[in-house]
Amino acid sequence: MASATSVLLISDDQGVSNAVSLALSDKRRVKLSSENRSVASMNGTAVRMAAENDIVVFATDPGNREDLNAIRALHAERGENSIFLALTDRDITLARARALSDAGVDDVLPFPVTGEELGRQMEKWLQKVASSKTSGGHDGSVIVVSQARGGIGATTVAVNLADQLQARKGRFRRGPANSVAIVDLDLQFGAVGDFLDIEPQEGLMQLATGDVMPDQMWVEQSLADTPGGLSVLAAPADFMPLEAINAKQIESLIAALRATHDYVVVDMPRALVDWIEPVINSADEIQIVTDTTVPSIRATRRLMDFYMADNPGLQIEIVINHEKRPMMQAAHHKEAARVLEKKFEHWLPHDPKAARNAVDFGRPLSEVSPRSDLAKAIGLLARGTVARLSTGERASAS
Ligand SMILES: Nc1ncnc2c1ncn2[C@@H]1O[C@H](COP(=O)(O)OP(=O)(O)O)[C@@H](O)[C@H]1O
Ligand SMILES: [Mg+2]
Repeated sequence: MASATSVLLISDDQGVSNAVSLALSDKRRVKLSSENRSVASMNGTAVRMAAENDIVVFATDPGNREDLNAIRALHAERGENSIFLALTDRDITLARARALSDAGVDDVLPFPVTGEELGRQMEKWLQKVASSKTSGGHDGSVIVVSQARGGIGATTVAVNLADQLQARKGRFRRGPANSVAIVDLDLQFGAVGDFLDIEPQEGLMQLATGDVMPDQMWVEQSLADTPGGLSVLAAPADFMPLEAINAKQIESLIAALRATHDYVVVDMPRALVDWIEPVINSADEIQIVTDTTVPSIRATRRLMDFYMADNPGLQIEIVINHEKRPMMQAAHHKEAARVLEKKFEHWLPHDPKAARNAVDFGRPLSEVSPRSDLAKAIGLLARGTVARLSTGERASAS
Protein backbone atom coordinates (compact mmCIF):
# COMPACT_ATOMS: atom_id res chain seq x y z
CA MET A 1 0.00 0.00 0.00
CA ALA A 2 1.23 3.50 -0.79
CA SER A 3 2.68 5.54 2.05
CA ALA A 4 0.91 8.52 3.62
CA THR A 5 1.29 11.94 2.05
CA SER A 6 3.73 14.11 3.99
CA VAL A 7 2.99 17.81 4.25
CA LEU A 8 5.45 20.34 5.65
CA LEU A 9 4.18 23.73 6.75
CA ILE A 10 6.65 26.60 6.93
CA SER A 11 5.21 29.62 8.70
CA ASP A 12 5.69 31.76 11.77
CA ASP A 13 2.10 32.99 11.62
CA GLN A 14 -0.34 31.30 13.99
CA GLY A 15 -3.32 32.12 11.74
CA VAL A 16 -1.71 30.28 8.84
CA SER A 17 -0.79 27.29 11.01
CA ASN A 18 -4.33 27.04 12.34
CA ALA A 19 -5.88 27.20 8.88
CA VAL A 20 -3.57 24.53 7.51
CA SER A 21 -4.10 22.12 10.41
CA LEU A 22 -7.84 22.62 10.12
CA ALA A 23 -7.71 22.11 6.37
CA LEU A 24 -5.95 18.78 6.82
CA SER A 25 -7.74 17.59 9.95
CA ASP A 26 -10.30 15.47 8.10
CA LYS A 27 -7.95 14.21 5.37
CA ARG A 28 -6.96 10.59 5.57
CA ARG A 29 -3.39 9.39 5.26
CA VAL A 30 -1.81 12.81 5.60
CA LYS A 31 1.13 13.48 7.91
CA LEU A 32 1.59 17.15 8.78
CA SER A 33 4.74 18.57 10.30
CA SER A 34 5.61 22.21 10.78
CA GLU A 35 8.62 24.42 10.76
CA ASN A 36 7.98 27.44 12.94
CA ARG A 37 9.76 30.16 10.97
CA SER A 38 9.37 32.35 7.93
CA VAL A 39 10.42 31.11 4.51
CA ALA A 40 13.13 33.73 4.32
CA SER A 41 14.78 32.42 7.48
CA MET A 42 15.06 28.81 6.34
CA ASN A 43 18.45 27.28 7.13
CA GLY A 44 20.15 24.31 5.54
CA THR A 45 18.47 21.69 7.73
CA ALA A 46 15.03 23.11 7.04
CA VAL A 47 15.74 23.18 3.32
CA ARG A 48 16.70 19.50 3.43
CA MET A 49 13.51 18.74 5.36
CA ALA A 50 11.49 20.46 2.66
CA ALA A 51 13.10 18.22 0.07
CA GLU A 52 11.80 15.14 1.87
CA ASN A 53 8.12 16.09 1.90
CA ASP A 54 5.46 15.47 -0.73
CA ILE A 55 3.86 18.87 -0.25
CA VAL A 56 5.45 22.00 1.17
CA VAL A 57 3.10 24.80 2.21
CA PHE A 58 4.40 28.22 3.14
CA ALA A 59 3.09 31.71 3.72
CA THR A 60 4.82 34.34 1.67
CA ASP A 61 4.79 37.95 0.62
CA PRO A 62 5.70 37.82 -3.07
CA GLY A 63 6.69 41.50 -2.95
CA ASN A 64 9.50 40.46 -0.63
CA ARG A 65 12.72 39.71 -2.49
CA GLU A 66 14.12 37.59 0.35
CA ASP A 67 11.07 35.35 0.25
CA LEU A 68 11.44 34.83 -3.49
CA ASN A 69 15.14 34.02 -3.12
CA ALA A 70 14.37 31.58 -0.34
CA ILE A 71 11.72 29.89 -2.47
CA ARG A 72 14.18 29.56 -5.33
CA ALA A 73 16.67 27.97 -2.93
CA LEU A 74 14.01 25.50 -1.77
CA HIS A 75 13.10 24.81 -5.38
CA ALA A 76 16.70 23.95 -6.21
CA GLU A 77 16.74 21.27 -3.51
CA ARG A 78 13.23 19.92 -3.84
CA GLY A 79 12.30 16.25 -4.04
CA GLU A 80 11.40 14.57 -7.27
CA ASN A 81 7.63 14.92 -7.13
CA SER A 82 7.24 17.43 -4.36
CA ILE A 83 4.65 20.18 -4.65
CA PHE A 84 4.99 23.77 -3.47
CA LEU A 85 1.93 25.68 -2.33
CA ALA A 86 2.22 29.37 -1.42
CA LEU A 87 -0.35 31.04 0.83
CA THR A 88 -0.49 34.69 0.04
CA ASP A 89 -2.60 37.82 0.16
CA ARG A 90 -5.96 37.51 -1.58
CA ASP A 91 -5.39 40.63 -3.70
CA ILE A 92 -2.12 39.50 -5.22
CA THR A 93 -1.44 40.95 -8.67
CA LEU A 94 -0.98 38.78 -11.70
CA ALA A 95 2.65 39.85 -11.98
CA ARG A 96 3.36 38.71 -8.44
CA ALA A 97 1.55 35.42 -8.86
CA ARG A 98 3.71 34.92 -11.92
CA ALA A 99 6.89 35.72 -9.99
CA LEU A 100 5.94 33.00 -7.51
CA SER A 101 5.27 30.48 -10.21
CA ASP A 102 8.59 31.38 -11.87
CA ALA A 103 10.32 30.75 -8.55
CA GLY A 104 8.91 27.21 -8.59
CA VAL A 105 5.56 27.48 -6.79
CA ASP A 106 2.93 25.05 -8.15
CA ASP A 107 -0.11 26.83 -6.79
CA VAL A 108 -0.86 30.12 -5.11
CA LEU A 109 -3.62 29.91 -2.50
CA PRO A 110 -5.38 33.03 -1.21
CA PHE A 111 -5.09 33.99 2.46
CA PRO A 112 -6.92 34.65 4.79
CA VAL A 113 -8.99 31.58 4.18
CA THR A 114 -11.15 29.27 6.26
CA GLY A 115 -9.76 25.84 7.07
CA GLU A 116 -12.60 24.32 5.09
CA GLU A 117 -11.97 26.34 1.94
CA LEU A 118 -8.25 25.70 2.16
CA GLY A 119 -9.00 21.99 2.57
CA ARG A 120 -10.93 22.06 -0.68
CA GLN A 121 -8.14 23.87 -2.48
CA MET A 122 -5.50 21.47 -1.20
CA GLU A 123 -7.56 18.43 -2.12
CA LYS A 124 -6.43 18.32 -5.75
CA TRP A 125 -2.78 18.34 -4.74
CA LEU A 126 -3.36 15.63 -2.14
CA GLN A 127 -5.07 13.58 -4.82
CA LYS A 128 -2.28 14.23 -7.24
CA VAL A 129 0.30 12.95 -4.77
CA ALA A 130 -1.88 9.97 -3.85
CA SER A 131 -2.49 9.05 -7.47
CA SER A 132 1.17 9.29 -8.42
CA LYS A 133 1.96 7.01 -5.46
CA THR A 134 -0.59 4.41 -6.51
CA SER A 135 -0.73 4.59 -10.30
CA GLY A 136 2.96 4.81 -11.01
CA GLY A 137 2.42 8.42 -11.97
CA HIS A 138 0.00 8.37 -14.92
CA ASP A 139 -1.57 11.73 -14.42
CA GLY A 140 -2.69 13.54 -17.54
CA SER A 141 -2.91 17.29 -18.00
CA VAL A 142 -6.28 19.01 -18.03
CA ILE A 143 -6.79 21.84 -20.50
CA VAL A 144 -9.99 23.82 -20.14
CA VAL A 145 -11.24 25.79 -23.14
CA SER A 146 -13.70 28.60 -22.47
CA GLN A 147 -15.15 31.37 -24.56
CA ALA A 148 -15.39 35.15 -24.28
CA ARG A 149 -18.64 35.07 -26.23
CA GLY A 150 -20.88 32.54 -27.93
CA GLY A 151 -19.81 31.57 -31.41
CA ILE A 152 -16.23 32.80 -30.99
CA GLY A 153 -14.78 29.40 -31.88
CA ALA A 154 -14.18 27.67 -28.53
CA THR A 155 -15.46 24.31 -29.70
CA THR A 156 -13.39 24.61 -32.88
CA VAL A 157 -10.32 25.19 -30.71
CA ALA A 158 -11.18 22.45 -28.20
CA VAL A 159 -11.79 19.78 -30.84
CA ASN A 160 -8.79 20.60 -33.01
CA LEU A 161 -6.47 21.19 -30.09
CA ALA A 162 -7.45 17.77 -28.74
CA ASP A 163 -6.84 16.27 -32.17
CA GLN A 164 -3.42 17.85 -32.56
CA LEU A 165 -2.35 17.09 -29.00
CA GLN A 166 -2.24 13.49 -30.15
CA ALA A 167 0.92 14.41 -32.05
CA ARG A 168 0.53 11.83 -34.76
CA LYS A 169 3.74 11.29 -36.64
CA GLY A 170 4.41 10.87 -40.33
CA ARG A 171 2.34 10.97 -43.49
CA PHE A 172 0.60 7.72 -42.91
CA ARG A 173 -0.68 8.65 -39.48
CA ARG A 174 0.85 5.97 -37.45
CA GLY A 175 -0.76 5.73 -34.03
CA PRO A 176 -1.03 8.81 -31.86
CA ALA A 177 1.89 9.54 -29.55
CA ASN A 178 -0.42 10.84 -26.81
CA SER A 179 -3.78 9.58 -25.62
CA VAL A 180 -6.28 12.43 -25.57
CA ALA A 181 -9.85 12.70 -24.31
CA ILE A 182 -12.25 15.51 -25.05
CA VAL A 183 -15.30 16.06 -22.88
CA ASP A 184 -18.19 18.33 -23.80
CA LEU A 185 -19.41 20.02 -20.65
CA ASP A 186 -21.48 22.45 -22.70
CA LEU A 187 -24.28 20.07 -21.76
CA GLN A 188 -27.11 22.02 -23.36
CA PHE A 189 -25.63 23.33 -26.60
CA GLY A 190 -22.58 21.12 -26.93
CA ALA A 191 -21.39 20.54 -30.48
CA VAL A 192 -18.27 18.45 -29.93
CA GLY A 193 -20.17 15.38 -31.13
CA ASP A 194 -21.23 17.19 -34.32
CA PHE A 195 -17.70 18.41 -34.98
CA LEU A 196 -16.46 14.82 -34.74
CA ASP A 197 -19.45 13.06 -36.28
CA ILE A 198 -20.21 11.19 -33.06
CA GLU A 199 -23.80 10.46 -32.06
CA PRO A 200 -25.08 12.19 -28.93
CA GLN A 201 -24.09 10.17 -25.86
CA GLU A 202 -26.15 9.41 -22.80
CA GLY A 203 -23.25 9.16 -20.36
CA LEU A 204 -23.54 12.68 -19.01
CA MET A 205 -27.34 12.35 -18.84
CA GLN A 206 -26.84 9.21 -16.76
CA LEU A 207 -24.93 11.29 -14.22
CA ALA A 208 -27.89 13.62 -13.97
CA THR A 209 -30.60 11.01 -13.62
CA GLY A 210 -28.84 8.28 -11.69
CA ASP A 211 -26.77 8.65 -8.58
CA VAL A 212 -23.62 7.67 -10.46
CA MET A 213 -20.07 8.59 -9.45
CA PRO A 214 -18.03 8.32 -12.65
CA ASP A 215 -14.87 6.28 -12.05
CA GLN A 216 -12.31 4.86 -14.47
CA MET A 217 -14.56 1.95 -15.37
CA TRP A 218 -17.50 4.26 -16.07
CA VAL A 219 -15.29 6.47 -18.22
CA GLU A 220 -14.02 3.52 -20.24
CA GLN A 221 -17.56 2.39 -20.95
CA SER A 222 -18.87 5.85 -21.74
CA LEU A 223 -16.22 7.22 -24.09
CA ALA A 224 -16.63 6.92 -27.86
CA ASP A 225 -13.60 6.73 -30.15
CA THR A 226 -13.11 8.66 -33.37
CA PRO A 227 -11.30 7.11 -36.37
CA GLY A 228 -8.49 9.59 -35.62
CA GLY A 229 -8.02 8.10 -32.15
CA LEU A 230 -9.66 10.68 -29.90
CA SER A 231 -11.75 9.56 -26.92
CA VAL A 232 -14.93 11.61 -26.80
CA LEU A 233 -17.56 12.22 -24.17
CA ALA A 234 -20.20 14.14 -26.10
CA ALA A 235 -23.23 15.99 -24.76
CA PRO A 236 -26.55 14.12 -24.54
CA ALA A 237 -29.33 14.43 -27.12
CA ASP A 238 -31.99 15.61 -24.70
CA PHE A 239 -32.02 18.91 -22.97
CA MET A 240 -30.72 18.70 -19.42
CA PRO A 241 -30.51 21.35 -16.72
CA LEU A 242 -26.92 22.29 -15.92
CA GLU A 243 -27.52 21.88 -12.19
CA ALA A 244 -28.58 18.27 -12.67
CA ILE A 245 -24.93 17.27 -12.34
CA ASN A 246 -23.09 17.99 -9.12
CA ALA A 247 -19.58 19.16 -8.32
CA LYS A 248 -18.52 15.82 -6.81
CA GLN A 249 -19.47 13.96 -9.98
CA ILE A 250 -17.56 16.39 -12.16
CA GLU A 251 -14.53 16.17 -9.90
CA SER A 252 -14.63 12.39 -10.10
CA LEU A 253 -15.12 12.47 -13.88
CA ILE A 254 -12.08 14.68 -14.46
CA ALA A 255 -9.97 12.60 -12.09
CA ALA A 256 -10.93 9.40 -13.93
CA LEU A 257 -10.22 10.97 -17.33
CA ARG A 258 -6.82 12.26 -16.32
CA ALA A 259 -5.87 8.94 -14.79
CA THR A 260 -6.46 7.25 -18.14
CA HIS A 261 -5.26 9.85 -20.69
CA ASP A 262 -2.21 12.01 -21.29
CA TYR A 263 -4.37 15.06 -22.06
CA VAL A 264 -7.95 15.89 -21.19
CA VAL A 265 -9.55 18.78 -23.07
CA VAL A 266 -12.73 20.25 -21.60
CA ASP A 267 -15.18 22.30 -23.68
CA MET A 268 -16.94 24.57 -21.17
CA PRO A 269 -20.46 25.99 -21.10
CA ARG A 270 -20.98 29.77 -21.04
CA ALA A 271 -22.90 29.66 -17.77
CA LEU A 272 -20.98 29.75 -14.52
CA VAL A 273 -22.54 26.83 -12.63
CA ASP A 274 -21.24 25.51 -9.34
CA TRP A 275 -19.44 22.51 -10.82
CA ILE A 276 -17.15 24.89 -12.70
CA GLU A 277 -15.10 25.05 -9.51
CA PRO A 278 -13.80 21.46 -9.54
CA VAL A 279 -13.05 21.80 -13.26
CA ILE A 280 -11.01 24.93 -12.71
CA ASN A 281 -9.32 23.42 -9.66
CA SER A 282 -8.15 20.46 -11.69
CA ALA A 283 -7.09 22.53 -14.72
CA ASP A 284 -3.41 22.65 -15.60
CA GLU A 285 -4.21 25.41 -18.05
CA ILE A 286 -7.19 27.46 -19.16
CA GLN A 287 -7.40 28.70 -22.72
CA ILE A 288 -9.87 31.53 -23.21
CA VAL A 289 -10.89 31.97 -26.83
CA THR A 290 -11.68 35.57 -27.69
CA ASP A 291 -11.34 38.29 -30.29
CA THR A 292 -9.90 41.73 -29.63
CA THR A 293 -13.15 43.70 -29.61
CA VAL A 294 -13.91 45.64 -26.45
CA PRO A 295 -16.89 43.51 -25.32
CA SER A 296 -14.94 40.26 -25.77
CA ILE A 297 -11.89 41.59 -23.96
CA ARG A 298 -14.08 42.76 -21.08
CA ALA A 299 -15.77 39.37 -20.92
CA THR A 300 -12.34 37.70 -20.94
CA ARG A 301 -11.21 39.89 -18.05
CA ARG A 302 -14.32 38.96 -16.07
CA LEU A 303 -13.72 35.28 -16.72
CA MET A 304 -10.09 35.57 -15.67
CA ASP A 305 -11.08 37.34 -12.44
CA PHE A 306 -13.70 34.72 -11.73
CA TYR A 307 -11.31 31.82 -12.34
CA MET A 308 -8.45 33.38 -10.41
CA ALA A 309 -10.50 34.38 -7.35
CA ASP A 310 -9.84 30.94 -5.86
CA ASN A 311 -6.78 30.03 -7.94
CA PRO A 312 -4.52 33.07 -8.25
CA GLY A 313 -1.71 30.97 -9.69
CA LEU A 314 -3.83 29.49 -12.47
CA GLN A 315 -2.17 29.30 -15.87
CA ILE A 316 -4.36 31.16 -18.34
CA GLU A 317 -3.59 31.54 -22.05
CA ILE A 318 -5.46 33.94 -24.31
CA VAL A 319 -6.26 32.55 -27.76
CA ILE A 320 -7.27 35.18 -30.27
CA ASN A 321 -9.48 33.74 -32.96
CA HIS A 322 -10.37 35.10 -36.40
CA GLU A 323 -7.21 37.15 -36.60
CA LYS A 324 -3.80 36.11 -37.83
CA ARG A 325 -0.74 37.14 -35.90
CA PRO A 326 -0.14 40.75 -36.86
CA MET A 327 3.30 41.90 -37.99
CA MET A 328 2.98 44.71 -35.54
CA GLN A 329 0.34 44.95 -32.87
CA ALA A 330 -2.08 47.83 -33.31
CA ALA A 331 -3.03 50.23 -30.53
CA HIS A 332 -6.19 48.28 -29.72
CA HIS A 333 -4.18 45.06 -29.38
CA LYS A 334 -1.83 46.73 -26.94
CA GLU A 335 -4.73 48.17 -24.97
CA ALA A 336 -6.42 44.76 -24.82
CA ALA A 337 -3.19 43.10 -23.67
CA ARG A 338 -2.84 45.75 -20.99
CA VAL A 339 -6.41 45.19 -19.73
CA LEU A 340 -5.74 41.45 -19.48
CA GLU A 341 -2.17 41.84 -18.14
CA LYS A 342 -1.17 39.24 -20.73
CA LYS A 343 0.95 38.95 -23.83
CA PHE A 344 -0.98 37.79 -26.86
CA GLU A 345 0.88 34.74 -28.05
CA HIS A 346 -1.77 32.66 -29.78
CA TRP A 347 -3.49 33.87 -32.93
CA LEU A 348 -5.77 31.83 -35.17
CA PRO A 349 -6.56 33.24 -38.60
CA HIS A 350 -10.07 33.77 -39.88
CA ASP A 351 -10.40 30.83 -42.25
CA PRO A 352 -14.08 30.22 -43.01
CA LYS A 353 -13.38 27.72 -45.77
CA ALA A 354 -11.31 25.36 -43.64
CA ALA A 355 -13.59 25.80 -40.62
CA ARG A 356 -16.68 25.06 -42.70
CA ASN A 357 -15.07 22.09 -44.36
CA ALA A 358 -14.20 20.50 -41.03
CA VAL A 359 -17.72 20.97 -39.68
CA ASP A 360 -19.37 19.66 -42.85
CA PHE A 361 -17.33 16.47 -42.78
CA GLY A 362 -17.43 16.09 -39.02
CA ARG A 363 -13.65 15.66 -39.01
CA PRO A 364 -10.74 17.53 -37.44
CA LEU A 365 -9.00 20.18 -39.56
CA SER A 366 -5.86 18.05 -39.64
CA GLU A 367 -7.77 15.49 -41.70
CA VAL A 368 -9.84 17.62 -44.07
CA SER A 369 -7.74 20.77 -44.45
CA PRO A 370 -4.28 19.92 -43.11
CA ARG A 371 -2.59 22.65 -45.12
CA SER A 372 -4.98 25.41 -44.16
CA ASP A 373 -3.66 28.33 -42.13
CA LEU A 374 -6.15 27.49 -39.39
CA ALA A 375 -4.98 23.85 -39.08
CA LYS A 376 -1.37 25.01 -38.94
CA ALA A 377 -2.11 27.68 -36.33
CA ILE A 378 -3.91 25.18 -34.10
CA GLY A 379 -1.01 22.75 -34.60
CA LEU A 380 1.30 25.44 -33.30
CA LEU A 381 -1.03 26.07 -30.36
CA ALA A 382 -1.02 22.34 -29.55
CA ARG A 383 2.78 22.08 -29.65
CA GLY A 384 3.08 25.16 -27.46
CA THR A 385 0.61 23.64 -25.02
CA VAL A 386 2.61 20.41 -24.80
CA ALA A 387 5.79 22.40 -24.21
CA ARG A 388 4.27 24.62 -21.51
CA LEU A 389 2.72 21.72 -19.65
CA SER A 390 5.83 19.59 -19.79
CA THR A 391 8.11 22.37 -18.52
CA GLY A 392 5.58 22.84 -15.73
CA GLU A 393 5.94 19.19 -14.87
CA ARG A 394 9.68 19.23 -15.16
CA ALA A 395 9.83 22.27 -12.93
CA SER A 396 7.94 20.43 -10.22
CA ALA A 397 9.82 17.19 -10.75
CA SER A 398 13.35 18.57 -10.68
N1 LIG B 1 -10.86 30.84 -37.23
C1 LIG B 1 -12.07 30.67 -37.76
N2 LIG B 1 -12.32 31.10 -39.02
C2 LIG B 1 -13.54 30.94 -39.58
N3 LIG B 1 -14.57 30.35 -38.95
C3 LIG B 1 -14.40 29.89 -37.71
C4 LIG B 1 -13.14 30.02 -37.06
N4 LIG B 1 -13.26 29.47 -35.83
C5 LIG B 1 -14.54 29.03 -35.73
N5 LIG B 1 -15.23 29.27 -36.86
C6 LIG B 1 -16.64 28.94 -37.11
O1 LIG B 1 -17.45 29.71 -36.24
C7 LIG B 1 -18.61 28.98 -35.86
C8 LIG B 1 -18.71 28.92 -34.35
O2 LIG B 1 -17.62 28.16 -33.86
P1 LIG B 1 -17.69 27.30 -32.53
O3 LIG B 1 -16.37 26.66 -32.39
O4 LIG B 1 -18.89 26.45 -32.52
O5 LIG B 1 -17.86 28.48 -31.45
P2 LIG B 1 -18.21 28.42 -29.90
O6 LIG B 1 -17.95 27.05 -29.40
O7 LIG B 1 -17.34 29.45 -29.27
O8 LIG B 1 -19.66 28.81 -29.78
C9 LIG B 1 -18.47 27.60 -36.48
O9 LIG B 1 -19.23 27.57 -37.66
C10 LIG B 1 -16.99 27.50 -36.82
O10 LIG B 1 -16.75 26.68 -37.94
MG1 LIG C 1 -19.10 25.66 -28.38
